[in-house]
Amino acid sequence: HNNGLNFPDGFLWGGAIAANQAEGAFDQYGKGWSTQDVAPKGVMGPITEVPTEDNMKLVGIDFYHRYKEDVKLFAEMGFKVFRTSIAWSRIFPKGDETEPNEQGLQFYDDLFDECLKYGIQPLVTLSHYETPLHLSKQYDGWVNRKLIGFYERYAETVFRRYKDKVKYWLTFNEINSILEAPFMSGGIYTPKDELSKQDLYQAIHHELVASASAVKLCHEIIPDAQIGCMILSMPTYPLTPNPDDVIAAMQAEHKNYFFGDVHVRGRYPGYMKRYFREHGIEIKMEAGDEETLLHTVDFISFSYYVSICETADPSKKQAGHGNLFSGVPNPHLQASEWGWQIDPQGLRYVLNMFYDRYQKPLFIVENGLGAVDELVTGPDGEKTVEDDYRIQYLNDHLVQVAEAVEDGVEVMGFTSWGCIDVVSASSAQLKKRYGYIYVDRHDDGSGTLDRYRKKSFHWYKDVISTNGRSL
Ligand code: BG6
Repeated sequence: HNNGLNFPDGFLWGGAIAANQAEGAFDQYGKGWSTQDVAPKGVMGPITEVPTEDNMKLVGIDFYHRYKEDVKLFAEMGFKVFRTSIAWSRIFPKGDETEPNEQGLQFYDDLFDECLKYGIQPLVTLSHYETPLHLSKQYDGWVNRKLIGFYERYAETVFRRYKDKVKYWLTFNEINSILEAPFMSGGIYTPKDELSKQDLYQAIHHELVASASAVKLCHEIIPDAQIGCMILSMPTYPLTPNPDDVIAAMQAEHKNYFFGDVHVRGRYPGYMKRYFREHGIEIKMEAGDEETLLHTVDFISFSYYVSICETADPSKKQAGHGNLFSGVPNPHLQASEWGWQIDPQGLRYVLNMFYDRYQKPLFIVENGLGAVDELVTGPDGEKTVEDDYRIQYLNDHLVQVAEAVEDGVEVMGFTSWGCIDVVSASSAQLKKRYGYIYVDRHDDGSGTLDRYRKKSFHWYKDVISTNGRSL
């Protein structure tokens, strides 16, 4: 038990998914292909010319056709908020059209209505690793400045359409992940090892300007909405107290803080200007960019799964596994089945670091344990999963959120990742499950797609109904 730790009134409890990992219907109802449709093996795997059948995301969990059943289950758990993304290529199939696809718009109208029917607020990511493929192939994704205009048109279209239904928005999922996954994150078609630092940081500049521009548009079109950035958080500890390691860790943190700093402060930080100078990078700014960047976010959202270590000693620089990023493993921590190191206190730490730095409300929009689950028959004769390991993980992390609240950090809410099992982003597997709800689908494509409540489903329901006092 949490020894009397409290969550604020109105805390936004819920869960999160993304369109491309759940919806399926990848080429139906006018949807164009996205970058995900040609990445059958996840981030590190090959890119195919056309979508191939072994790509689990083409069907996903068939959320497109089953969302009513799923939202009902979310409501049963007591969700206050449900995070999903809009598949950009459902709205603008190629990305550079001037007119949106009405069928795509209608789908999200129906989905958001279904959420609101149960009092669940949608929290919507505009771009979650699903850039229209045409923008990637034709323009090299965000390397091309034209993407700003295409994104603005898309953002404006959905802000106008859903202004009465969606009051929480995020601009780019894990925007800093472009550093490691330029294709998945930034739609950049040029292979990673051929991409220059110049082009990479120019693409980042375009995304940052587009993000700020979306903030401006959102404030104009939906004055009562709040819009945030979304950062992949991964606290980086020095491997030893050697000052060289401390500085190495600081520099690793700067690479990621850069994204939050621009979103919150509206300008490039000095350490980044130094990095550009020392690497011969010259960001091409156009008139108006600096002004646009001054449209800063209302809150900072982030994912948190792992912490890592950094060292200045090349002999100790073995690669560990992380959430897209790798780092030096921490000898004090255990890892998940996928090698992600589990560190509940890292969540309290990162909440404090962000809050000390920005003094803005924070929203934890992803956290959870990817694990292999076994479907068994429960005591009541219903099929279930005895996922005590997942309960333990989430419980330990939420206790640390409460600790951070006690520290004075303003936390808006918590949406655990993959509240219903979805296809993994990094490995494109379905056997890496995060959900409170089990989906009967397997990596060989078999399965009924039926849904089952796991043990954690009942656990989370209690957490929400007691506002965290059951932890
Ligand atoms: C984040 C992404 O990187 O982590 C999600 O925003 C992703 O899309 C999640 O699914 C968990 O990663 P994975 O690779 O286990 O699915």
